[in-house]
Amino acid sequence: MTETSDLETLESDILKAIDAAGDLNALEEVRIGALGKKGMVSKQMQRLGSLAPDERKAFGQSVNQVKTRVTEALEGRKATLEEIALEKRLASETADITLPVRPGPQAEGRIHPVSQVMDELAEIFADLGFSVAEGPDIESDDYNFTKLNIPEEHPSRQDHDTFYFKPDEDGSRLVLRTHTSPVQIRTMLKQKPPIRIIAPGRVYRCDSDQTHTPMFHQIEALVIDQETHMGHLKWVLIEMCKAFFEVDEVKMRFRASHFPFTEPSAEIDIGADAIGKPGEWLEIGGCGMVHPNVLRNCGLDPDVYQGFAFGMGIDRMAMLKYGIPDLRAFFGADLRWLKHYGFSVLDKPTISGGSSG
Ligand code: DAH
Repeated sequence: MTETSDLETLESDILKAIDAAGDLNALEEVRIGALGKKGMVSKQMQRLGSLAPDERKAFGQSVNQVKTRVTEALEGRKATLEEIALEKRLASETADITLPVRPGPQAEGRIHPVSQVMDELAEIFADLGFSVAEGPDIESDDYNFTKLNIPEEHPSRQDHDTFYFKPDEDGSRLVLRTHTSPVQIRTMLKQKPPIRIIAPGRVYRCDSDQTHTPMFHQIEALVIDQETHMGHLKWVLIEMCKAFFEVDEVKMRFRASHFPFTEPSAEIDIGADAIGKPGEWLEIGGCGMVHPNVLRNCGLDPDVYQGFAFGMGIDRMAMLKYGIPDLRAFFGADLRWLKHYGFSVLDKPTISGGSSG
């Protein structure tokens, strides 16, 4: 047999072995057997010395060509095997997301109705173009009252049953915020109009009976722009209530009222049809056009900017929507209550799926 036919046989044997390699390990063995230091192709190179000088060049070239083709074949097979291995993994690693949650903390745990309602409202207002603003629970007297047009000695300070901290040396004192309205001030002081924010959070008043707890939750909304009017306020409230109570129509009535930080001011009632009790009216919060003094206190010119604001009790909204009778139970940390009224982690509120998830 000539050197050339030897080489041809060797090459075709190696190519067959490459094709036959069933996995990446087997292929690596073939590679070592062919191209490794002591591999069959490398050994051919060592024969060069024993050849006649005129044969050397041609034989050397042939061996190199074999080497190139073997290398290419190895790479090709490697890519195929890798693909097969990936397909296999993908097939064995699928997760069936329609399976029920496994028993355990994830299935057992419940989202508190207050958290659920906050998420629902954030979702609804996001759809209307509002972002979420925050402020601290411990607030300055100035932001909680004074900048909201409630000066010292103003009678409405008494209505709030405030938890005060001890005043510091210069007489200024901190309070547990009595409403979410100071977030209006914080927002206007740091953000230029147009403003569209909601601010959900905890508020505190020294008050306790079946419908009052010393800590409860409110959601504030604030819109400031150059041509904002009561019609916008009404529309936003109606759209919010329709989405929140998941009904096509909602009756709403505005009762003239008084808040120092709005003028005019109104209390918002909704027709209880929305919660399946036709004929009654339910109060859900207060609202109005932002008082010019409040705008001025935040450095905005009331001749250029107007806006509206409203504040609602989140706990109350949750009680109405989900038929929960006693406010105090919200904060009783009773797991049986939470199991009954709470929400599964998978009940994510979305606009398209209904706000309650
Ligand atoms: N801060 C008021 C309260 O706690 C509620 C309220 C009334 C908020 C009117 C507003 C508003 O933004 O415009 O009783």
